[in-house]
Amino acid sequence: MSILFTPVRIGGLVVPNRFVRSATHDYMADDEGRVTDANVALFSRLAEGEVGLIVTGHAFVRPSGKASPRQIAVCSDRFIEGLARIPAAVHGFPSRVFLQIAHAGRQTKPRLCGGVPVSPSAVYDPVSKVRPRELAREEIPALVSDFVAAARRAQRAGFDGVQLHAAHGYLISSFLSPHTNRRTDEWGGPVGNRARILLEVLGGVKSACGASFPVIVKLNSTDLMEGGLTLDDAIAVARLLDANGIDGIEVSGGMAEAGLGSMWPGLRREEDEGYFVDAAARIKQAVRVPVFGLGGIRTLAAAERMVADGRVDLVSLSRPLIRDPFLVRNFREGRAARSGCVSCNKCQSLRGIRCAGPKEL
Ligand SMILES: Cc1cc2nc3c(=O)[nH]c(=O)nc-3n(C[C@H](O)[C@H](O)[C@H](O)COP(=O)(O)O)c2cc1C
Repeated sequence: MSILFTPVRIGGLVVPNRFVRSATHDYMADDEGRVTDANVALFSRLAEGEVGLIVTGHAFVRPSGKASPRQIAVCSDRFIEGLARIPAAVHGFPSRVFLQIAHAGRQTKPRLCGGVPVSPSAVYDPVSKVRPRELAREEIPALVSDFVAAARRAQRAGFDGVQLHAAHGYLISSFLSPHTNRRTDEWGGPVGNRARILLEVLGGVKSACGASFPVIVKLNSTDLMEGGLTLDDAIAVARLLDANGIDGIEVSGGMAEAGLGSMWPGLRREEDEGYFVDAAARIKQAVRVPVFGLGGIRTLAAAERMVADGRVDLVSLSRPLIRDPFLVRNFREGRAARSGCVSCNKCQSLRGIRCAGPKEL
């Protein structure tokens, strides 16, 4: 039997197979961030489609950390009841579901976040055309508390765990990056200082939710930018996370300013699928916890090789599951050997994600 359809442990949690739905903002919450019927239907389909571990889109931990329209909110207790509809729908199936918790940092707009965006340092972002305000040293502990409170809300809502968003140039990622973090206090400088906010969030979540509540991270392995985070930095961060109780590491890369984010366009040859998997394999050598590989994985054969060869423990998919939420089940039943996703990146839509690619491959 394919290793892809064997269970794996994330902390104490058993995930029924090796397929992860990588966090995907679905533009389906209401204007305030409340979960809608469309959200619930989407998660229910992914679970019916046998995705082992489903990660939601990034949910904002405070209003000023909102990155995008129609994003899920986890910034107040009043959202718990709506959030609870997601695990309730998923748990009708063997799948597990984690809430991804995030703060936009400088990658947002004042009209979305309600003020001047904040960042570790006031480094202009040419994409959002924002010069963020540098966070005062005393403001940072409150941000840590917001992430911790958000994780606790996710736990109360019935999620199986949380994923800390430390990738793609958003707030935690911008602390890790020497390009956006030019601080000279304890939150900047050497990589251990740049990782401090992430480690404090991890420690805070584990104290608030209990050591057995799974906490994973989506981590940049590179910012794909001159002067940005390097793989050596990412390996150092991964080691620190591993030593401090993280339960799994999903390896990604890119940031808006780099021009190349996490969703690379176009199709690649089967042997080149998984554009962050080389980095993930390097990180896997440095840690004990499960590592998730991703980036343009489209064929069952490529996914199988990555896991069978021990380069990664799980494989994450985003766009292929927008095209077909039943892809994993179709793989298992032998009905499909590859996704029909051509990475055209037309799936983002303010009216809710949907595949707008060619009907046939
Ligand atoms: C519509 C869309 C929304 C996304 N939203 C998120 C998100 O909320 N959080 C996140 O970490 N990554 C997000 N991503 C990135 C994906 O999780 C994934 O890392 C990337 O698309 C590469 O995987 P793929 O080639 O399988 O699509 C998003 C991607 C897409 C296409």
